[in-house]
Amino acid sequence: MALNWSEEKIAAFRKALLDWYDQEKRDLPWRRDHDPYHILLSETMLQQTQVATVIPYYNHFLQRFPTVAALAQAPEDQVMKAWEGLGYYSRARHLQQAAKQVVQDYGGEFPHTAAELRQLSGIGPYTAGAIASIAFNQPEPAIDGNAFRVFARLFKIDADIAKPQTRQVFDQLIRQLIDPQRPGDFNQAIMDLGSSYMRAKDPDPAHSPLAAFDQSYLSDTVLDYPVKSKKKKPVVVPYFALVIHSPQGYLLVQRPRTGMLADLWMFPLIDRSELEAALEVDQLIEAAAQFAALSGVALKFADAGAKPVRHTFTHQQWQLTLVEAESAAFDLAVLPAKWVKAADFEKLALPTVQKKLVAALKAGGAL
Ligand code: ADE
Repeated sequence: MALNWSEEKIAAFRKALLDWYDQEKRDLPWRRDHDPYHILLSETMLQQTQVATVIPYYNHFLQRFPTVAALAQAPEDQVMKAWEGLGYYSRARHLQQAAKQVVQDYGGEFPHTAAELRQLSGIGPYTAGAIASIAFNQPEPAIDGNAFRVFARLFKIDADIAKPQTRQVFDQLIRQLIDPQRPGDFNQAIMDLGSSYMRAKDPDPAHSPLAAFDQSYLSDTVLDYPVKSKKKKPVVVPYFALVIHSPQGYLLVQRPRTGMLADLWMFPLIDRSELEAALEVDQLIEAAAQFAALSGVALKFADAGAKPVRHTFTHQQWQLTLVEAESAAFDLAVLPAKWVKAADFEKLALPTVQKKLVAALKAGGAL
């Protein structure tokens, strides 16, 4: 999108934005220096998680892994442990992989250009732009959901931001506006506007420092922007979560290396949609009890949990019915599984959905 503004108007836009930022910017831990490792960490955490949630995780993570070299060398399970509860765990694995690349391919010094940064594991156009601009003063846009919303409103852009091609439209426009002296501050000022006067819900565009430049405000159509086609609803996936207890603790299995919640520890899950639709819980338990008797494993089923535990991911909603069982300890040679005392659960990296299952068991007095 070509910008037909005069140089004076562009300068006035930058000044209004940056003067406001200088006065009102949020004091956030990752704004206290321009260390690219700090910027990568904060931007990675902030991609799917709110600022208030990220702050304690960010501080703790840097205490555990103070440098990119420390992160590169750390055992993966400790990295996952420091990420526990933030969700979207592949972010943590990519982050550590990127740290290894920086150490191995760049002698521990981050590359400065967005193009090189994009070669690092897990770094997409947004994060590359954020690091290049904030840490290295490169005039690169950093277009996340906030920036899409802010610029869509300012310029009444009606391209669908759910479509990948639309990024180009915004990228071109922002390159004409970004302050070449202070690109990192420019990008972060846009983020702050996007979480204050130009937030998604209940915005206050009249008091924004860019009110005079805000075409949607001036035409009273703020909430028409950005244009975003609807995401599909998450698919419901029903599971049985097997709570198998023995004198050695609860049986936990490690999830596969790839896919959702990769490598994290959970109760064994059985995908109910793969079972015959006609099979009721009681029949299933009966079948399992028969199997247990035949195979010599002493299973004793308690009640099946009444209400399923729900957990919603981006594309799926899991509905987990708890099934409890007492058993003798046994080895599952084919699965990465172990018996873990309830008091030791917190030593493993557990996904939030597993914590919900544990909480439901505790609430029911079963744990
Ligand atoms: N959201 C994403 N990146 C951010 C940053 N650097 N500061 C504040 N909010 C953000």
